[in-house]
Amino acid sequence: MTGLSHGAEAAARPPAEGAEAFALAEARLALLVAELPEDLSARMLTLADGDRLTAFRQRIVATLDDPDHYRMAGEVGNFIADHLGARGLTAGIFQDGELVAYGALGIPGPEDHNRGRDLPLPAEDLPLVAHMSSAMVDPAMRGRGLHHRLIDWRIAVSDSIGRRHLLTTVSPRNHRSWGHLAGHGLHPRRLIRVGEGLVRLLLHRDAAEHAQMDRATALLVPVDELAARGDLFDGGNRVWGRVPEGGDPATATRWYALVGRAIQTAPGRPQTAAA
Ligand SMILES: CC(C)(COP(=O)(O)OP(=O)(O)OC[C@H]1O[C@@H](n2cnc3c(N)ncnc32)[C@H](O)[C@@H]1OP(=O)(O)O)[C@@H](O)C(=O)NCCC(=O)NCCS
Repeated sequence: MTGLSHGAEAAARPPAEGAEAFALAEARLALLVAELPEDLSARMLTLADGDRLTAFRQRIVATLDDPDHYRMAGEVGNFIADHLGARGLTAGIFQDGELVAYGALGIPGPEDHNRGRDLPLPAEDLPLVAHMSSAMVDPAMRGRGLHHRLIDWRIAVSDSIGRRHLLTTVSPRNHRSWGHLAGHGLHPRRLIRVGEGLVRLLLHRDAAEHAQMDRATALLVPVDELAARGDLFDGGNRVWGRVPEGGDPATATRWYALVGRAIQTAPGRPQTAAA
C-alpha cells in the first residue's frame, strides 16, 4: 500500500496501452463475473465479434421507446473498429451463447477525438482520458443490475490502465442512463452539441477528486427541461442524481435532476467550495 487513493495511485503510472491494457481489462472481468446472475457469463469482445455487436446494437436501437435516448449519429468514428481494437476495451455478457449486454470503454490516442477537450481539461490531462462510450442491455435482461456492473467494470479498468478521467455524453432525456452514471461518480457537467446538432450532457469523473454536493446549493430541475438549461452549469453546478416525483421510482411519471455545486473533500483537508 502506498497510502495513495486508488485513483491517485493509477494516475501516477503511465497509461497502459494495447495488449497490456487488454490483459488488465480481462483480469477485471473476474469482478464482473463474480456478481453476475448464474445464467450469465462474460468475456472480452474482440474484432471477431464485430458483426455480432453490430447486429445487437441495431436491434436495441430499433426497440428504444424514445429514439433520442441513443442515436448512433452522436457517436464519433467507427464504433466497432474503435472499441474492439487497439483503441477500445469492450465486455460482452452472454446467456446461452447469445450476446445480451455490452459495455465499451474508449481509450483515445493522441490523434483521436477526445471528450476531455469539451470539458475542457488541460492539454496535459488529455492522455489520461477514457471514454465511457456506450452500454446496452437486451430489454429482456433489464433490471438485473447489468448496467451498474458494466459501469463498475469500466471504472475499474479505467483506473487500472492509468486513465483517471472518464467522460461520456448522454441524452438529457435518458435519465436512467445518466442517473446510473452519476451514481457511480460520472456527473453531468455541461451541455454540448454532438453529431448532427444533438444536445447531450457531458459527464465527467476524475478518480483523483473527492467531491460531494454542497447541499446549500441544491435544486431540482425537471428532466424534460434539462436540454434547454445550459445556464444551470455556468456557475460550476453538476448533476448529482435523478429524483422521482413522489419518491417512488416504480410509480413515478416525472423525474428531476438534482443539481448543485461541488465541495472538495480531500482526505485530511477542510471542505472548500469548488467549480
Ligand atoms: C439504460 C440501460 C443500459 C439500463 O440497463 P439495465 O441493465 O436495465 O440497468 P440495471 O439493471 O443495472 O439498473 C436498473 C435497475 O435495476 C435494479 N437492480 C436490480 N437488480 C440489481 C442488482 N443486482 N444490482 C444493481 N441494480 C439492480 C436497480 O435498482 C436499478 O434501479 P435504478 O435505475 O434506480 O438504479 C438499458 O435500459 C438500455 O440498454 N437502454 C438502451 C440503450 C441505452 O440507453 N444505453 C445507455 C446509453 S450509453
